[in-house]
Order: sequence, then C-alpha cells, then structure tokens
Amino acid sequence: MEDRVDAIVAELALDDKIRLLSGRDIWHLEAIPDAGISPIMMTDGPHGIRKQELGEDRVGMVEAVPSTCFPPAVTLASSWDEALLTEIGAALGEEAGSLGIGVVLGPGMNLKRHPNGGRNFEYLSEDALLSGKLAAALVRGIQSTGVGACVKHFAANNQETRRLVVDAVVDERTLRELYLTGFEIAVTEGKPWTVMAAYNRLNGTYCTEDPALLTTLLRDEWGFDGLVMTDWGATSDRVAGIEAGLDLEMPGGGSAFDAEVKAAVDRGELQEASIDRAVRRVVSLQLRAVHTEPADGFDADRHHALAARAAAAGTVLLSNDGVLPLDTSSSVAVVGAFATEPRYQGAGSSRVNPTRLETALDAFNARFSKVLYTGAYDPEDGTITPAGLRDAALAAADADVAIVFAGLPDRYESEGFDRDHLRLPDAHSQLIDVVTAVNDRTVVVLSNGAPVEMPWVERPAAIVEAYLGGQAGGSAIVNVLIGDEEPGGRLAETFPIRQSDVAADANFPGEGKQVQYREGLFVGYRYFDTAGVGVRFPFGHGLSYTTFDLLSPTVARSGDGYDVTVTVQNTGDRFGAQVVQIYVRDVESTVYRPDKELRGFAKVRLAPGETATPRVHLDRRAFAFFDPPSGDW
Ligand code: BGC
Repeated sequence: MEDRVDAIVAELALDDKIRLLSGRDIWHLEAIPDAGISPIMMTDGPHGIRKQELGEDRVGMVEAVPSTCFPPAVTLASSWDEALLTEIGAALGEEAGSLGIGVVLGPGMNLKRHPNGGRNFEYLSEDALLSGKLAAALVRGIQSTGVGACVKHFAANNQETRRLVVDAVVDERTLRELYLTGFEIAVTEGKPWTVMAAYNRLNGTYCTEDPALLTTLLRDEWGFDGLVMTDWGATSDRVAGIEAGLDLEMPGGGSAFDAEVKAAVDRGELQEASIDRAVRRVVSLQLRAVHTEPADGFDADRHHALAARAAAAGTVLLSNDGVLPLDTSSSVAVVGAFATEPRYQGAGSSRVNPTRLETALDAFNARFSKVLYTGAYDPEDGTITPAGLRDAALAAADADVAIVFAGLPDRYESEGFDRDHLRLPDAHSQLIDVVTAVNDRTVVVLSNGAPVEMPWVERPAAIVEAYLGGQAGGSAIVNVLIGDEEPGGRLAETFPIRQSDVAADANFPGEGKQVQYREGLFVGYRYFDTAGVGVRFPFGHGLSYTTFDLLSPTVARSGDGYDVTVTVQNTGDRFGAQVVQIYVRDVESTVYRPDKELRGFAKVRLAPGETATPRVHLDRRAFAFFDPPSGDW
C-alpha cells in the first residue's frame, strides 16, 4: 500500500496536493481521478449513521437516510461490556458500508469532567480507563467491516460553552492521567483509521495546531498511523496545522485556506515535504476505505434487536424495594408523555433518523392487559398543567403499580450548550411527588443523557435509569421492568447529590475564553471517594434482580504486572449480569493520589447457582502516576 501511495503522490502537482488537504464538500473527500480514486464519504456517528444526501445543513434539518438508532454512548457505556460494544460497532460499520460510507465520525470519548456538559450523552464515562476500553471496542467493531472509525474530539473538549475558542488550562499530570489516557487506550488498542482534532485550545494552543498533541504524543509516543482531521470548521491557522500534523481540513468546498498554504510554500515557510506527509495520509485513507457506493441494504430487524439488547444492557436499576420485576397481571398506570414520545437520543450532530421507533406504551399494551395511560406533561418543554397533575394522580391511585416516565426534554441537553443546572423540569419533580403520594408502588423511569439531582429519591419504590434507549428503548424498558431482561447496567458516572458537590463546579465552564481545570485529578469518583463527600449514586452502582457473592480474590504476579481473579457466584434464583471492578489504591505514596482508581473490569453473565472466575490483568501502568519533571510514567 505504501508503494501505491507514494506512486500516486509522486504524480500530483502541488495545487492538487493542496486541494486534497481539505474535503470536496461537507462530507466528502476530494477525488483523485487520475489514480481512479473516487471521493469517500464520512458521516456522523457515533450511535447511528447520519447520511445526508443533499443540502448544506448538518444539524438535522435535512433528514438523513434511515439507519438504526442504537443507544447513545452514555447508555452503551453503562453496560461495561466490551463485547457488546464491538458488536454494535460492527453493526454501525455494516450500515455505513451498505450506504457507501468510508468513515464513521465516532466514537466520541471526551471525559465527563462535569455532569453539566451538554454533550455528555455522546461520551462514555468520567473514568479514562472505561472510556478508552469501550471506545477501543467500538473502533474494533466498526473497522472489522472495512469502514474507518474516528476517535473524537482530541483533546480536552469537555464542555460546549464557547467550545470553538475556549482554552482548557490543564496541568500536565491531570492531562496525562485523565484526559489523554482514554484516547491513548483507544488509539493503541483500537487502532482507529482517523482521529478528529477538537475545536478548543489546550493550554493556549488550538488542538488543530498543536504539534505536541498531534505528532509527539499521538504519533511518536502512541504509534498512531492514520489521519488527523479537524472538527467541522475547527481550522484557525491552516499552515500551522499542517506543520503540527493536522492532515485534513473539514468541511471542504473551496477551502479558503488553499491560497494561504500555497503562499506559505512559495515563501519557503512551509516545506512541500510537510504537505506530502499529509497528502500521503489522505491518499492512504482513500485507499483503505473500500465502501464508496451504496450496496446491498443491511439487516434492519437484526440491528433493531441488537439495539434493544443494548438498551437493556445499559439500563441501571438505581433503587428497588422489591416492586420490580413487575407481575404482568398487575394493573399499571403509565404516567408521562415520554412513554409515547420517547426521549431516545441526544440533540445535535449525532441525531440519526431511525428505521423505526418503539414506544414504551405500546410495549406495555403488548404485555399487560390492564394499562391506563396519561401523558401528564408536554414532552417538548416539560411543563404540566393542574389538570395534567390531577389526571396523573387519578390514574395512579387506582392501579396496582404506577410507572412515571420522567427525565430531560431535548431542550435541556444538547450539543452546543451546557446545562446550567442538574434538576429535572419542575413539572417532572411535581409529577413524581403527586404520584408517589397516592401509590406506594411507584416506579420512576428516567430518560436523560446525564445525571440529574433527585431530592425525591426516597419516595418511589424503584428508580430505573434508562438513559437514552435508542430506537428500541420502548420494548427494552418494559422487558427490564417485567424481568424478561436483566437491568444489566452499572453507572459509568457518579450521580452527585447536588451540582455544587462536583469538584469542578467552581471552574465550569470557566470565565471569558478560558477554563481552568483547577480540580486537577479530582474528577468524578476520584473526588467524591477521596474527599469523603456523599453521592446520590456512586460510579459503578447498579442493582440486579438476583444476588451475587464475590469470593476469594487472588492476586498473582504476571508479566509486567499482576493478574487478579475473583470468583463471582449468582446466589439468587434468576439469571443476572455482574461487573467485577478492580480498583487500585496506593497505600503509601510520595505524591498525592486519588483514594482509588479503576484499573480493570470484567462483565460476567450467570445463571442461578452458576459461578465464573474472570481474570483481569493489571499491567505496570495500572500502578503508575505521571511524573511531569521526568515526563514519564
Ligand atoms: C461536531 C462533530 C461532528 C461534526 C460533523 C461538529 O460540530 O463537533 O462531532 O462530527 O460537527 O457533523
């Protein structure tokens, strides 16, 4: 392949090379007709394929071609299931390939520094290891189909406020141990074809122009051999970008920067060799991406079923006094408009046009004979009228069980802005109060892309965090409520009691054009556990319908680290999944360290009485901290 790339590049005139360094339009790369290379198309991503066939709009006003809407990253991450994410990745790749797409613009994997981040639904976790492992699993799945993945947004793109210009000021140790580690794992283990450089600045330099980030770290240290593209419109100084290791500018369409690049070469400020380096990577990508034309369709039924399985696997049972699982002979009051107009994916560039869309109410009607529904609130703005509250109370009072569908309407969280509080809409809290006042057997089902405050936490008999369930979330949630499916999820993020408890809160989203990460390493559970600050639900939490014992852990030296084994036994009378989480604590350290840090995990599925003994390897890095003076672990 390298010879072929060299031969193609050798034939290109300088102007052609410069032309290739930006896209043909919003989604395509340029063609190279003389080499017989047709333009490849890239699309969002990350939880479904958003292929737009016309128009310049890219935020959803031009309807995309239908594709399976899998649950977004927040839900997938709660499954803690690498095999499942690889399967989803492969399904995404199949759909992309069948639509003639060369590269899927995902996974998104920025660390969840603060739960108010508007785009947190599109990211995986507050923990770097979990983010990195799950992103790598998605990348492997996508690329197993001959479609490229794009790990984004590199790096420290942890907020939406002033996202195009904000300068994230992060100390080196924090950057390495938290914000870069996830990308490092995704790159070294997933080997993505492409990486997307973020809009923001990092310690003063735009990510799209930072040689330390794009070359020294990404390529020299981590061995990345693919292409780096800009986020859409993230170019500031194109010449500096090329020098820094930024290959492709997107979107394209008559790049305003071509003349600047040419002039810089003419003036001798930019070596043609630097251009060749970037062109070579563009050509390599074009050759790697085999899908350029739509082909056979994909198996929409199979992918829908996979989306349903993933939604259940990512559903987290937060609390349960025994009301769940439900008996299908009970009469149920289904309360809340999300049961018929589901909140099932996030807003912004990731929004896909689903092949079909289930509702929870239809699934209830299919499984229960006594269902009473009332919408209660407006699903768009989350408001409720006195009549809506009264109807909800009437419906709930008469039923064996009341299921309240609550959460965040679209307008509460989206790409493009951060949340300014962690509360549910007032109407949803009122609804929970009113329904729990008349029915002791009330289950609250939450649909949201990130944590919410729950001052009402003690009132319902059970709380189920369904997150954003994708297009099959309707049947998935009912299957979980009746126990046909296990609520397989464990939180990949902490639910604080209140927003002000979050260590980053005083410095989120920053002031002026700068955000200082003054909390350092104290993100998520690393802070709450170290400082002894109580949380609503901790990282890793999730109940089951069965019970498990964790028995006889062993630690044995192995290679450059240790192998940990734990025997997990299902001691209940139902099938269930458990996640073994291995944390490391430094009992005596010369530097400050968080109280504990996740260093490995394994998901096991067990029938009643069954045992399994997963083995998790902890390498040298699992015990390391980054030492800025020596620039090493
Ligand atoms: C988003 C990217 C997305 C791109 C193309 C940008 O605004 O940040 O995640 O891939 O648009 O839609």
